[in-house]
Amino acid sequence: MYERHDPSFASLSGKRQVRRIAQICAFTLLVFLGLKTATARAETGAATIRFDVATRVFRIDAADTSYVFGVNENQQLQSLYWGKRLGANDSFPTAKAMPESAAFDPPITTTPHEFVGWGVGLYVEPDLKITFPDGNRDLVLKYVSHRIDGNQLDIVMKDISREVYVTLQYQVDAETGILRRSAEIENRTDAPFTIEQVEAATWNLPRGTDYRLRYLTGRWAAEWNVQEQPVHPGKTVLESRRGTTGAQNNPWFAIDHVGDSDQDSGEAWFGALGWSGSWQLAVEQDQLQQVRVTGGFNPFDFGYRLQKGEHFQTPYFYGGYSSHGIGGASRMMHRFEIDSLLPHAPTPKLRPVLYNSWEATEFRVDEAGQMALAEKAASLGVERFVMDDGWFGQRKDDHAGLGDWYVNPQKFPHGLKPLIDKVHSLGMDFGLWVEPEMVNPNSDLYRKHPDWVLNFSGRPRSEGRNQLVLNLARPDVRAYVYGFLDKLLNENDIAFLKWDYNRNWSEPGWPAVAPEDQKKVYVDFIRNLYSILAELRAKHPNVEIESCSGGGSRVDLGIMKLTDEVWPSDNTDAYDRLLIQDGFTYAYTPGIMMAWVTDSPTWVNNRTLSLEYRFLSSMQGSLGIGANLNKWTPDDFATAKKMVAQYKSIRETVQRGSLYRLITPENNSEQSVTESVSRDGKQAVAFAFLHSSRERYPFPRIYLRGLDANANYRIAPLDGKLAKDTPASASGAYWMHRGVDVELRGDFQAAAFTLERTGGAAGN
Ligand code: GLA
Repeated sequence: MYERHDPSFASLSGKRQVRRIAQICAFTLLVFLGLKTATARAETGAATIRFDVATRVFRIDAADTSYVFGVNENQQLQSLYWGKRLGANDSFPTAKAMPESAAFDPPITTTPHEFVGWGVGLYVEPDLKITFPDGNRDLVLKYVSHRIDGNQLDIVMKDISREVYVTLQYQVDAETGILRRSAEIENRTDAPFTIEQVEAATWNLPRGTDYRLRYLTGRWAAEWNVQEQPVHPGKTVLESRRGTTGAQNNPWFAIDHVGDSDQDSGEAWFGALGWSGSWQLAVEQDQLQQVRVTGGFNPFDFGYRLQKGEHFQTPYFYGGYSSHGIGGASRMMHRFEIDSLLPHAPTPKLRPVLYNSWEATEFRVDEAGQMALAEKAASLGVERFVMDDGWFGQRKDDHAGLGDWYVNPQKFPHGLKPLIDKVHSLGMDFGLWVEPEMVNPNSDLYRKHPDWVLNFSGRPRSEGRNQLVLNLARPDVRAYVYGFLDKLLNENDIAFLKWDYNRNWSEPGWPAVAPEDQKKVYVDFIRNLYSILAELRAKHPNVEIESCSGGGSRVDLGIMKLTDEVWPSDNTDAYDRLLIQDGFTYAYTPGIMMAWVTDSPTWVNNRTLSLEYRFLSSMQGSLGIGANLNKWTPDDFATAKKMVAQYKSIRETVQRGSLYRLITPENNSEQSVTESVSRDGKQAVAFAFLHSSRERYPFPRIYLRGLDANANYRIAPLDGKLAKDTPASASGAYWMHRGVDVELRGDFQAAAFTLERTGGAAGN
């Protein structure tokens, strides 16, 4: 029999005690009503967290997922199950540690732990490694107590002899079954100790040898490449050592079975870290074929000295399970991000259609030029006008000005007000580019505060794009950055900040603090970044923020909690973007993925693409325009105006709906097709792209997904042609099983169509 076990009830406040009594009553009722009630609760999608006192098994159930682990005979937390939801009355025997495997692999190494300290003889990835002042580095954590509070479970562990406490925190999302895990370390010894490695969590998969790992790699202008590889014995480390999230790897993984090639069937386990600093994910198949994924801070060059009495919190590591393949895993992530993670969740505002000046004017911004662009943008139906780099300090190019956040008086003699007023008078709101964490050596700020940047005393300071990284971990730098942003927002009617970050760290020293504390910069920098964002949002609740890092180098679930949208790549070639956007959506919702229509031929590949193609590519995300409108013809304006209006009619479906990858552009496929289905099921929109046709083969038939087989849907082309024999209306079953043919032939062709549910049952 499962019971709630709550040793710390007495420590709760009065209000929470009342809540707790209500929970206990509800639970008692549940016990009395037995299986019937438990099943009913499962059907409503509610989350339950239970502890079986007799077997010492914890069980978390939500949506389609069960997550089970127990306290074994060594008082350690051992994984028992993670996968499809089990029967409400299914029970597990008490966890039993794995036996020693000859003399070489002790139980500490062979047992699948939830969270394990480095001690005894641990040869797999540890979650926590500590060096104590006396040189001792042995840490053995054992279960002490736990507390269940609604959808949250906290478990306290302690070292066998030292006053080191670790609280494992589990929170479950009722709608998706996604778990959020983290750990808090507390030093109750009487001296400081140094944490040399600390991860948020370890996820253990069911034992198996047929797993495939998917992960994301990239670089500037080529972010979001999906990689696939079998999970072999040994370890694959995904990481950033850059001080920031980075594009080389993104902190996301998904694992499914090698045989499941279909996007939407089979089992998939996935996870992502909420951290925008250096991070690590270690995917390991151990010597007994147990697959574990451990993630959190990157242990490379890590060291956090924790004073007596201090607590230390890891980032969150989110994990989920889907029985609808990798496509289902993405849809679950998207749903979770929109409903539970983004600012204003569960109803983040739809992204406005945006214009951005960067590709049109680069640094050459001024009042007249921006006003002229604003007028043209407004005529297209654009809702937000964003002035990019170049408006501040002595910023003529990327050699000067970063750090000096005053409005450039030559370019804007009357400040920003006339431009902002003009933008408002055109019916748009106004956004501005900033890069708060950086400084050019050629700036007043650097001349005044050369000690404010990351550096090692007496060593060169390497520049990237002629800039250095301010050490945001320093309280004075944090105060400066918050101060100038707050002032900017107080003095100007700004609705949106594009927050850029155009290089990664070098020489990550912090000479102003004691040598033993210098590595704290990896943690304190990011904590200050988050606290600035949180404070600005609280003070200026109507301001929206985009996370940009020379493209998509700072996209993760940590920054996403504090920003409304992200810039996935500086690569705005609409064809390249198909691949980039496809990869992005494995982990992140297209609802926050900015996608600009820019000029053709593109600066990226010198490729010529029709305006329609460019629009359709961008309409798969959050639509923006970044072209030089001064060069557009009247025909271009007419096309763009029509397509902006079309986008508005499907934007809710694209931004909040369910995404299906019908044909992925991966592996140089000649075509790609995506489909989004609105949450209410009333609308679906499909985008089809032909990269290059060959030997008169027709475009593959498009088989839609996610429709109601028994409902009727009316089809209408958004752009491009449907085959002549396409019926005007048919059942969901017809569109999903007979499919749709589009007329696409040639190079770089595109088409899109919508399906609107007409209500009546099919065939009637
Ligand atoms: C980065 C961004 C671009 C643009 C420039 C401005 O590269 O990704 O979109 O804002 O900086 O300098």
